[in-house]
Amino acid sequence: MNSRREFLAFLAASPLALGADDVIKSPKDALDIMDFEEPARRAIPIAHWAYMATGVDDDATLRANREGLTRLKLRPRRLVDVSKTDCSIELFGTKWPSPVYISACGSQKAFHADGELGTARAAKAKNAAQMLSTVSSTSVEDVAAALGRPPWYQMYAPRQWDGVEHMVHRVEAAGCTVLFLTVDVNPGRNTETQRRLSKADTRNCTVCHGAAGPGSRHTPMFEGIEGGMNSQSMTWDFVDRLRKLTKMKLLIKGIDTHEDATLAVEHGVDGMVVSNHGGRAMDSDRATINVLPEVIDAVRGRVPVLVDSGFRRGSDVFKALALGATAVGIGRPYLWGLGAFGQAGVERVLDIFHAEVLLTMRQCGTRSVSEITREYVQV
Ligand SMILES: Cc1cc2nc3c(=O)[nH]c(=O)nc-3n(C[C@H](O)[C@H](O)[C@H](O)COP(=O)(O)O)c2cc1C
Repeated sequence: MNSRREFLAFLAASPLALGADDVIKSPKDALDIMDFEEPARRAIPIAHWAYMATGVDDDATLRANREGLTRLKLRPRRLVDVSKTDCSIELFGTKWPSPVYISACGSQKAFHADGELGTARAAKAKNAAQMLSTVSSTSVEDVAAALGRPPWYQMYAPRQWDGVEHMVHRVEAAGCTVLFLTVDVNPGRNTETQRRLSKADTRNCTVCHGAAGPGSRHTPMFEGIEGGMNSQSMTWDFVDRLRKLTKMKLLIKGIDTHEDATLAVEHGVDGMVVSNHGGRAMDSDRATINVLPEVIDAVRGRVPVLVDSGFRRGSDVFKALALGATAVGIGRPYLWGLGAFGQAGVERVLDIFHAEVLLTMRQCGTRSVSEITREYVQV
């Protein structure tokens, strides 16, 4: 038995615990982010849960992200006055109270009727950055209205160039100033766990929401755009073209090697996200926390480096900051909050991350993000 969670699962299965149900009934009951997973699983239709939970192939990258983070240890310094601690960061001229941002996750109405609007209202309440997915179930205009500012926009590139222009001009008109081009699913992927779990859902999806994907009424960002997205033939030439097309800050999401980090800077991007799509792109990838140092070293501070995939604790976030990340994205944690309790769940997830980041900072003897350096982790 190697984890507290496994131990709790063991206890729950024992006759001593028969009848006990410690699944939280309200966001305020949550002691940690993982407390939202089970109520979300119970609230969400199994096929939609499968879409959220899945990795690819054997889900090895999904597990590697967590293993990488738990293996890395902290080096706390004692007897530092940590009575005033601030974890705010600045990115592209905006100050955010927390380094944790909401990463792009598609089709959020599959998890709660409020979908991306519930997430946006929570992000507004907590002053958190929200990245909106191309395959959002709500338009960028409506999300911007609920958020009170334009979101960051994540692009799965339409296959035809005129579709790219159409989408970019639309998000510019909505006021977006930061664009993330996701590149890690271009080759295709095998979401085997999703397909296995979905078999248990015998309902006919098309009755409820039609075919998902570009062109469907559930992907409003594809309105007026023909053809699919995420071309297997995309290369750095596409990045050059996109760079010329827009003045928005352009970041690449899905960088996993120092070679590509160097190329990204050479091609004029404004930043990048070290990400393996939460273990959903390819298997046998490394934990992003293990990729981060080589990317940071290659980038040499020229542009901000963000990271996501597997972050569940404030201490995880602290480790990424220590290795040089500017901000940390979360996916499933806020989807669990949304699925279980809507906006209030997302708010509580953000609050717990914030409190845990501050606690880890105090425990390590750091008072601001700029004080969190590599000396605080055992690499
Ligand atoms: C259900 C789901 C949908 C996602 N949809 C997108 C998407 O549309 N675009 C994208 O760039 N990343 C997408 N992601 C990846 C997230 O942006 C993020 O990289 C990942 O979830 C972080 O890992 P975590 O879930 O372990 O926190 C999705 C992730 C999940 C779980």
